[in-house]
Amino acid sequence: MTQDELREELVRLSRSLYDRGFSVGSAGNISVAVPDGWLMTPTNSCLGFLDADRISRLDRNWNHVGGDKPSKEVFLHRAFYETRPDTGAVVHLHSTCATALSCLDDVDPQDAIPPLTPYVVMRVGRVPLLPYVMPGDPVSGDLIRGLEGRHAAVLLANHGPVVSGRDLRSAVHAAEELEETAKLAILLAGRGVRLLKDSDIKALKARYAAMR
Ligand code: 13P
Repeated sequence: MTQDELREELVRLSRSLYDRGFSVGSAGNISVAVPDGWLMTPTNSCLGFLDADRISRLDRNWNHVGGDKPSKEVFLHRAFYETRPDTGAVVHLHSTCATALSCLDDVDPQDAIPPLTPYVVMRVGRVPLLPYVMPGDPVSGDLIRGLEGRHAAVLLANHGPVVSGRDLRSAVHAAEELEETAKLAILLAGRGVRLLKDSDIKALKARYAAMR
């Protein structure tokens, strides 16, 4: 895909997330790797109305070299690219149900999104809950770095999910899967839920790990 095509893809997928309510207002940001650096949604932009020509461009040292000023959450994104070398894109949302779970004080910080279905295991994996920090605080990057690349996605307490993928489409799909699983968890709260067993999770990972 050329860089122009990738810009159009970023606009299209962002609009799709916005149109389906995965993002509201100016919440959320998305980045995608290109050969000479990264493309990133500009700060305070609305995912529903991005302008392909104004998307922020950062060089390989994360200097802002084109387009509007990048998202203030650049630290979140950078930490994923630097700790998970096969990362091609990162999506941060304030999607409602995942954010709701991130506000509960009885969520397991090691495993915040329950393994309810095969697809959340295949596309997202185990999701830790990271402590609250202010949006745009570089500490958020340090917290992700502390995980040493073990997780493709995290939930930021009282804030929302950050999801990485091998390319833009995979990262968006994984962010959608995470949100839908959070919705299931909320719908099922208080019921006798049957989670996937450890052996099911191992088998899914063995067969589908390479497909994320
Ligand atoms: P930006 O507008 O700087 O991308 O920040 C939005 C956001 O989601 C903060 O967490």
